[in-house]
Amino acid sequence: MNVNSQNASSTRKPKNFNNPERFIEGWYWVIPSKNLGLCEVKSVTILGRELVVYRGQDKRVVICDAYCPHMGAHLAEGNVEGNELRCLFHHWKFDAKGICVDIPCLDEPLPIKLKTWPSAEKYGMIWVWTGEFPQQPLPFVPELEHKDCDVAFGPRFVMNCHPNVVGINAIDAQHFNTVHKLLSEIIFEKQELNENAITFINTTYSDQDSFLIKLIRPFYKNPVTYSICYWYGSIGMVTLGFDLFHIHVMFAMRLLEEGKAKVQTLAMIKKRKGILGWLYNRIVLWLTKIVGNHFIKADIRIFQTIKFDLKTPIKADQSIMQFISHLEKQKPLMWKTWKLARSRDIEFTENRDKWRDALSND
Ligand code: FES
Ligand SMILES: [Fe+2]
Repeated sequence: MNVNSQNASSTRKPKNFNNPERFIEGWYWVIPSKNLGLCEVKSVTILGRELVVYRGQDKRVVICDAYCPHMGAHLAEGNVEGNELRCLFHHWKFDAKGICVDIPCLDEPLPIKLKTWPSAEKYGMIWVWTGEFPQQPLPFVPELEHKDCDVAFGPRFVMNCHPNVVGINAIDAQHFNTVHKLLSEIIFEKQELNENAITFINTTYSDQDSFLIKLIRPFYKNPVTYSICYWYGSIGMVTLGFDLFHIHVMFAMRLLEEGKAKVQTLAMIKKRKGILGWLYNRIVLWLTKIVGNHFIKADIRIFQTIKFDLKTPIKADQSIMQFISHLEKQKPLMWKTWKLARSRDIEFTENRDKWRDALSND
């Protein structure tokens, strides 16, 4: 595809991509599962919204807004009773759906509801869906869909740029040679899995590869396996290897204040049976973490100082343009409020109407 012919559309500023006030409705990681014990409640801030997360007696995780609908006490100060949460202040109690089930000084509870959010656990992490009902399954690597995985947590860090910008590094074809001194040429083919997930797959078999690639070349036949599956533009699942030997690293990211990115890396592999299978997986996960760390180290200086602005796209940036256009079609929410983000004109009209209402009420 001639990227220059796309320049007209690329000069239109993207609304979702690299926007410090927006993220895509979807599943986002909260905390590692092991950090939340039975009947424990914790305070978390995810994508600007203050929440509490607790684990009931039935081991299920509940995620709800942080402040009590009675008088605003922080519910992380409260106590888990069975599968319900009791506020510390006046002891009102809310069930796992957020419904108020007890007000000690009244015979009957009031028909009020604490806002709860869909939650799930996978890959050793707790996840939250940032809308009313999950529209997608939890993020997965296409070749591991429906498979149980062993995982190992890698480093967690904050990058000084938007998760979208960190994410596109994995499809920045030029930098594999310039920064990582690896493949001299890489051409991706894109496959849209659904509205929120897109995969880029390397199709190149180059004979001008780096020393490292040449060294391992006798051991495999097909092009180097390198692919990345993006979910909501914020979670990137990289698959790397040759022929049948593949390793997988997840870069689970969330937008922080001022357009920064919180990144949790996670090595993953499909579960294997028996003690040998377990041992094999531990070794591969350890190897995967080393490879993942190697890539991060080389890129980190760039992310801490970049002011991303793709002013001059060339053909090698084609996958980045495709990533941006995929992101622009997804449902944007506002950081902190988790309300639907709309274009400035609509927001402006809405605000104006609100002001009119307020005036007429006077
Ligand atoms: S503030 Fe929670 S019960 Fe009163
Ligand atoms: Fe990189």
